[in-house]
Amino acid sequence: MRWGISDRWRTAEVKGQDLVVALTPKEPEVKIESKAPAELAPPKPTLIDEKVKLHGQLIEEFNLALIDKVSPEDLARQVKQFVTEYVQRERVALNQKELEGFADEVLDEMIGLGPLEPLLKDATVSDILVNGHMAVFVERFGQLEPTPVRFKDEAHLLRIVNKMVATIGRRVDEASPMVDARLADGSRVNVAVRPVAVDGPLVSIRKFSKRPFSLDRLVEIGALRPAIAEVLTAAVRCRMSIVVSGGTGSGKTTMLNALSSFISPKERLITIEDAAELQLQQPHVARMETRPPNVEGKGEIRQRELVKNALRMRPDRVIMGECRGEEAFDMLQAMNTGHEGSMTTIHANNPRDAIKRLEQMVGMASMPMSMAAIRGQIASAIQIIVQLQRLSDGKRRLTSVSEITGMEGEVIQMQEIFRFVREGMDENNNIIGSFRATGVRPKFAQELKAHGIELPGHLFDPTAAI
Ligand SMILES: Nc1ncnc2c1ncn2[C@@H]1O[C@H](COP(=O)(O)OP(=O)(O)O)[C@@H](O)[C@H]1O
Ligand SMILES: [Mg+2]
Repeated sequence: MRWGISDRWRTAEVKGQDLVVALTPKEPEVKIESKAPAELAPPKPTLIDEKVKLHGQLIEEFNLALIDKVSPEDLARQVKQFVTEYVQRERVALNQKELEGFADEVLDEMIGLGPLEPLLKDATVSDILVNGHMAVFVERFGQLEPTPVRFKDEAHLLRIVNKMVATIGRRVDEASPMVDARLADGSRVNVAVRPVAVDGPLVSIRKFSKRPFSLDRLVEIGALRPAIAEVLTAAVRCRMSIVVSGGTGSGKTTMLNALSSFISPKERLITIEDAAELQLQQPHVARMETRPPNVEGKGEIRQRELVKNALRMRPDRVIMGECRGEEAFDMLQAMNTGHEGSMTTIHANNPRDAIKRLEQMVGMASMPMSMAAIRGQIASAIQIIVQLQRLSDGKRRLTSVSEITGMEGEVIQMQEIFRFVREGMDENNNIIGSFRATGVRPKFAQELKAHGIELPGHLFDPTAAI
C-alpha cells in the first residue's frame, strides 16, 4: 500500500456524503486567491480536470468520517502527500507553488470552509461579507473591498454555511433562515438564507482578532490620546462603572477588552456574552455565554438569566459584552449593589442616545418602575460613557468621554470631559481633527483622589494639547 493511513481508513465505515458532493465539482471553478490581481487568473483547464479527478480519488481512499479523529496537522500532511503522489503519478504539470496551493484547496474543502479559508487566514482581514455565491467582500484597515473569491454555485455556499452552523448544532434552512454561530477560532458568524436573503445566502463574519488591541496600541493608532487613556485607566482601576457606546463595528468590544486589562488581577470577573469574544487576561475570569433556542424553539438561556446567576457567583465585577435588551435592568442592579466597576457596551450614536437606549431597555424587563425610577437607577449605576464612532474615512475613534453626575428633577445630568473635534478632510478623504478636553474637571476626580490617584490638572485643560 502506497499510503499507510488510508489503509486504516478504508476499513472503517464510510460516512460524510455531504463532503463527497463538495469534493466533486463538475464545472470549472475560479481559483481562489486573495492577493495581487495578477494572481487572479482562473487556473488552466487541465488543472481543474485534475482537481475533479483527484477529489474523486480522495473520496475513495479517505474515510471522511475519520477526519475529525486525526489531528489537523496529520490530516494536512496526509492530504499533501496524497496530492503530491497523485500529481507525480498522473504527470500533472504543476510547479511546487501550484502544487501546494492545490493541496491547500483540497484540504480547505475537506476540513475547512472552502473558498473562505484564505480570507480567514489573512490577518489583515477583519470582516468577511458574502452576498450570495458570486460576491465576497472583506474589510481591511477599516475599508470594504471586493475580493475575487467565488463559490461554485449557491449549493456550494449553502454547504459551507451549514458547516459553519453545524458547530453549534444548528441548520439553516427555510424554516430557520437566520442563525448566529461561532467558528472554531472564535470568529463570529451571522448567516441568513432564502427566503429572507433575497439573492442567496448572506454571511457576515467578524473575525476573532488573535492579538486584541491594548489601550496603548489604540493610542498609537490615534483612536484616542494619552491623556484620555490616563483618565480612563484610573477610572477602571478605581471601579467606576463604564458603558462603551457606539455603532456596529465601531470598536466597542475592542475598547471594553482594552479597558478591562486595568482591572486588578485579584478581582473575580464574570463575563457574560452572546458569543464569547472578550479576551480578559486576568487569572480569575469566569466566562458565560447565552444559548440560543434549539430547533424546536426550546432551551434558550438569555443574558438576563446569566446576570442573575452571576450575582450568585461572588463576582467583583460583571463584564457584559453587549447590553441589548431587558438584561439592562439586571446589569444596572448589579452595578448598584456592590459590583461597581462593572462594564458593558451599548449600541448608540452618542452619549445621550446611550442613556435613552438604556431607559428603553430597562423598560423591556417589564418591572413596575416609573421613568423617574429608571433614570435614578441609571444615574446611580453608571459613571462614565465612552463614545466610539467609525468615521466616514473608516477610522475608529473615541469621540467623547462623558460623565453622569446625577439627577436634577427627572433629568439625568451629564457632562462631557473629552471630545473629538472634526476640523476637515485631507486630500485622501481622511478626516482631520483633534482631541480636546472640554475644560470640565470630572466629579469622579474626587473619588479617584480618595483612592490615592491624583489626576494632574493639565489633563483637563482645554487650551493644552492633550
Ligand atoms: N481603533 C481601532 N482601529 C482600527 N481597528 C479597530 C479599532 N477598534 C477596533 N478595531 C477593529 O474593528 C473591528 C470591529 O471592532 P469591534 O470591537 O468588534 O466592534 P464592535 O464591538 O463595536 O462591533 C475589529 O476587527 C477590531 O479589531
Ligand atoms: Mg462588539
